[in-house]
Amino acid sequence: MALDSILPGAIVRRSSHDVEFDRVLGGGIVPGSITLIGGQPGIGKSTLLLQVALSWQGKVLYVSGEESAEQIKMRADRVNQQKSQTYILAETHLEAVIKEVGVVEPDLIIVDSIQTVYTNTLESAPGTVSQVRDCTSILQRLAKEQNIPVIVIGHITKEGSLAGPKILEHVVDTVLQFEGDRHHSFRILRTLKNRFGSTDEIGIYEMMQHGMIPVENPFKIFLQEKSNLSGSAVAATLEGQRPMLIEVQALVGNAVYGTPQRSTTGFDLRRMHMLLAVLEKRCGLFFGQMDVFLNIAGGLRVTDPATDLAVVAALVSSLEDLTMPPQTCLAGEVGLSGEIRSVQRLEQRIAEAGRLGFEQIFIPAAQATALDVKPGSMRLVQVGHIQELYDQLF
Ligand code: TYD
Ligand code: MG
Repeated sequence: MALDSILPGAIVRRSSHDVEFDRVLGGGIVPGSITLIGGQPGIGKSTLLLQVALSWQGKVLYVSGEESAEQIKMRADRVNQQKSQTYILAETHLEAVIKEVGVVEPDLIIVDSIQTVYTNTLESAPGTVSQVRDCTSILQRLAKEQNIPVIVIGHITKEGSLAGPKILEHVVDTVLQFEGDRHHSFRILRTLKNRFGSTDEIGIYEMMQHGMIPVENPFKIFLQEKSNLSGSAVAATLEGQRPMLIEVQALVGNAVYGTPQRSTTGFDLRRMHMLLAVLEKRCGLFFGQMDVFLNIAGGLRVTDPATDLAVVAALVSSLEDLTMPPQTCLAGEVGLSGEIRSVQRLEQRIAEAGRLGFEQIFIPAAQATALDVKPGSMRLVQVGHIQELYDQLF
């Protein structure tokens, strides 16, 4: 078939009636697609998908090999009182599931989890690599042939590996990862692969008594408990497409137990080592005999290089015991010579900071001239080198 003769087919999507879930999928669920959602046990996958089932406008077949129908009913009562057309099937035998699909005729199928189902065509036990892979392929064919979207839940271990989700990534259309810290209530749903949309999206939820609540204003969670003591700085980061202001906390103190300790939570340890080395070499600030702890508040994990500047500010603030000026945030990547490098989508970060009531933001000097923003009441402080940062901040 000649490429030019093919008509562009629009992707039709159906809303899940969950703004965050729709967002990570690229605007809704695509009929006939298969989505894998991975996450550690206990993170809230079953809760989220049951909510999606309950708010779906149409028939849903929720297949559970993990829990009994009664357990699922109890969870449904906890998260939602509305009437729905959700059918629960506590079954692990895939051929029986397919039979039930013929009876119920759902327009959404959820399988919880892929590790518990098995197909007759293989001798091996559920959860083995071959079972997981074959079952997913069978479900993928079912989705395509009957044009029913299928969402499959998969457990991953803390290391992110398992005979499961990893090997399935190429079989499915979309891979979502549900992450968070079990000791904190918020959860992030991240798109790792998407045939029908961008992989830069994230969804944010808070796990409450009555289920998973979409968080439209992440500021509430990540900054509400911010301290005004030394060692605290706010980074204007970008998580996926979303600007987000987060608190970076550092604690620098004399190493009392011989070898200084270095540890980070939510930030790359090697990156912190690099930033410490830059601070020593370029600013003459010595951390050699110091314990250094760095923490991203709220249990968030950040990888955005623009966080560097706030990390540096927090480290220096703690080392010198100087507090940051109020309503101040920072965005900038730090290079090995101590230079502050440009970051992506600076305008968006500035806009978000302004919206949240920040009064000044430190930005890379190199980027300031090309900036196309009306800063409003925001003061833009241009910094080209971390030495300047130090002079301007304290
Ligand atoms: P669950 O959805 O079972 O996790 P997964 O399927 O990923 O293993 O949720 C596990 C935790 O969530 C459990 O510790 C209880 C808690 N939870 C709430 O806090 N609020 C709720 O409304 C529900 C249903 C669960
Ligand atoms: Mg579960």
